[in-house]
Amino acid sequence: MNFLAPFESLSPVPFETTWRSPANIAFVKYWGKKGHQLPANPSLSMTLKNCFTETRVRFEVGTARPGVELLLNGVRQDKFAGKIETYLRSLASMPWLENVQVLVETRNTFPHGTGIASSASGLSAFALGLTDYLFHLSGVKVDFFRTASYLSRLASGSASRSVYGGFVSWGEESDLYASPVGVHPELAHLRDSVLVVSGEEKAVSSTAGHGRMSDHAYAEARFAQARTNYQRTLAALSAGDLTEIGAVLESEALSLHAMMLTAPSAFTLMRPNTLAAIEMIWAFRRETQLPLYFTLDAGPNLHLIYPESSQHKIRTFIAHELSPLALTVIDDECGEGPVKC
Ligand code: PMV
Repeated sequence: MNFLAPFESLSPVPFETTWRSPANIAFVKYWGKKGHQLPANPSLSMTLKNCFTETRVRFEVGTARPGVELLLNGVRQDKFAGKIETYLRSLASMPWLENVQVLVETRNTFPHGTGIASSASGLSAFALGLTDYLFHLSGVKVDFFRTASYLSRLASGSASRSVYGGFVSWGEESDLYASPVGVHPELAHLRDSVLVVSGEEKAVSSTAGHGRMSDHAYAEARFAQARTNYQRTLAALSAGDLTEIGAVLESEALSLHAMMLTAPSAFTLMRPNTLAAIEMIWAFRRETQLPLYFTLDAGPNLHLIYPESSQHKIRTFIAHELSPLALTVIDDECGEGPVKC
């Protein structure tokens, strides 16, 4: 299905819209692509609440300066503007862009480089604004969020999942867009405290990391593992089985980083304090039997996942034992998805 067909050959008009879109944390990881921005395996994430990007997009017509201008936290960022412009031009069926200036003002509620994917929140916030504009121009009234997910995916795969709240899957129902999945009420308010052990720029970007799966000796085994873990997570979410979810979470995080360590051109994004924290979490769980689990994205920082019911004891442990390993801790939880401001 060509999602963009209804938006071809439209005449641009001035328009302005603002969206807030949250980050998400993958429980089952997307790591490796097939074709253009299509996932090699299904992934599943929890949408966050407090960590979001707010983006105002203004489309100006008949301007002497067509193209993209972008301000991040009030500061002009030509590199990000260039990325958005390349993305817009890749949507080849949009000739109307030739006469339009796109002004983007964006800010994150969380600092850059904290292991919270600003590409997921940032690019989904932009794609939601773009979808809003396209729906306004064309009069299309159905499948708004599906279209926004499709457009987000073309910018960043994980962003496709940020357009919905709760738990969201991509690459099972469709490779083209993400869809919300059902969750047991007891898991609807899971907590995520992000332990930021390093704020340094990543040595290898996600894009380059995905690329290293293309000639990886363990690629097929990893994609098969992710498919199994996806089904396990789906079943455990619906049954409310946090022990099973925790087992998958940690296996996914360690497998993701094992793929980096065993890639033909090997690299690691973990830092000594990442491993120190993992060992302390395992010891804490053995000693207390409390349901605290970790996961990692493509970076050194840990996402600590636990239920609301154990929040008090677990936050005390995080504050006293884990936070000395970290620059900062950001407390978040499962959220309800994007909002139009
Ligand atoms: O969306 P990308 O291309 O930045 O890739 C995201 C990759 C992971 O964050 C490691 C996993 C995921 O599914 O979000």
